[in-house]
Amino acid sequence: MNTSISGFSKLSKSEKIDWIVTTYFTNQEDAKNTLKQYWNSDSKLQQLHDEFIENTITNYYLPFGVAPNFLINGKLHTIPMAIEESSVVAAASKAAKFWLDRGGFKAEVLSTTKIGQVHFMFHGNAETLKQFFDTVKPKLFADAKSITENMEKRGGGILDIELRNKTKDLDGYYQLHATFETLDAMGANFINSCLEQFATTFKREAMLFENFSEAEKQIEIVMSILSNYVPNCIVRAEVSCPVKELSDSKNIDPEAFAQKFVQAVNIAEIEPFRAVTHNKGIMNGIDAVVLATGNDFRAVEAGVHAYASRDGQYRSLTHAKVENGLFTFWMEIPLALGTVGGLTGLHPLVKFAMELLHNPSAKELMEIVAVAGLAQNFAALRSLTTTGIQEGHMKMHLMNILNQFNATDKEKIAIIHHFKTHVVTHRAVVEAIEAIRQ
Ligand code: HMG
Repeated sequence: MNTSISGFSKLSKSEKIDWIVTTYFTNQEDAKNTLKQYWNSDSKLQQLHDEFIENTITNYYLPFGVAPNFLINGKLHTIPMAIEESSVVAAASKAAKFWLDRGGFKAEVLSTTKIGQVHFMFHGNAETLKQFFDTVKPKLFADAKSITENMEKRGGGILDIELRNKTKDLDGYYQLHATFETLDAMGANFINSCLEQFATTFKREAMLFENFSEAEKQIEIVMSILSNYVPNCIVRAEVSCPVKELSDSKNIDPEAFAQKFVQAVNIAEIEPFRAVTHNKGIMNGIDAVVLATGNDFRAVEAGVHAYASRDGQYRSLTHAKVENGLFTFWMEIPLALGTVGGLTGLHPLVKFAMELLHNPSAKELMEIVAVAGLAQNFAALRSLTTTGIQEGHMKMHLMNILNQFNATDKEKIAIIHHFKTHVVTHRAVVEAIEAIRQ
């Protein structure tokens, strides 16, 4: 079947839906109803969501949960989390409660520098290019003034611009490597606007630079774009307590637990297959808060994983040690987050999440997000090194299995009661449903 279409973007929402359902679906009414049941009855709210992206045909719900009892730098938080996976919110909540009784989490922003680059090709004399750069650098700042003025008033702006020679890696390739302070904004628009202005100024001034030959004046700008790799925008989160306080169950010996926990982290530091899963568990917490607060989780994911492989091997983002009877578990990660701009002032649930978090600055949000990641990793490793992950995970997943089998409320109550004393597996749940239905 030929399913291409020209001018799709110009169709109305209902015309788009008509085309989709007639082209791809056998039961067109069913397909339409599936889309429509997620529309909001408040047409203004629906329009707001329609206009977040392009070609919107419906809304895609994710559960929005909360994890209470997070004591961070002495202040209590209830953390909002948007995520589809069962047991993540429970795990974060459990870790928060555990550390609440042990002094809570400490978090600190170590640096906040963001990066952007103008990538260009130049096939002339590198020394002359350097001369040109030194001459034009003040003009790069001056021409971007209209963009940077407000940011500078608030204390941010362009920190520096460097010329970087990358010709060893790619013939003729150079960069304007610029650093920025964007305060409470994630900064993507600000940085990209500055970079595009640098590129315009750079190209224009090259044409006028007397020491360039005619060929050298033809600098080719390839692209101007921020980097989502922000190794100088780092936050540290940490928990620590005496080893002897590390158990909240008589089945767990604190010394043995601490030792096994540190081993588990050490394995993730040297074994990439384990490190990826270990870090995925950290991202369970990070992504959920990043999404709930309307931030760009793709940017965060890309940057965090690049950081995890900064020495050439993919490694654990968290670290753990026992020294002089003290257990310490910590993480340093790059996070470029915003609490103004983007969706933060638009999406009603993002506004709710921000208020729930006491309207944090970007730095405070970095701390909260890092703590959610550390807590998640603590909970996962605690399960992995004691009961195994399936016990708690399946306990939380029970409701999904029951819903798959359209269990009634009465059946759910009976089966949840049954599994208080039995191990949850998919098969055991199916058998329990069958037994009840007989
Ligand atoms: P539990 O000890 O059976 O829970 O743990 P509990 O019923 O005794 O309750 C203790 C506390 O846990 C509660 O305190 C809550 O804070 C929380 P309370 O509220 O009663 O004062 N809690 C809940 N919160 C909300 N809703 C619930 C709920 N149940 C408990 N229904 C738990 C159960 C799942 C928390 C535990 O087994 C756990 O932390 N497991 C780890 C789960 C996990 O990591 N899930 C992520 C998905 S698996 C994955 O993708 C990552 C992984 O591969 C990463 C890696 O390999 O490193 C594992």
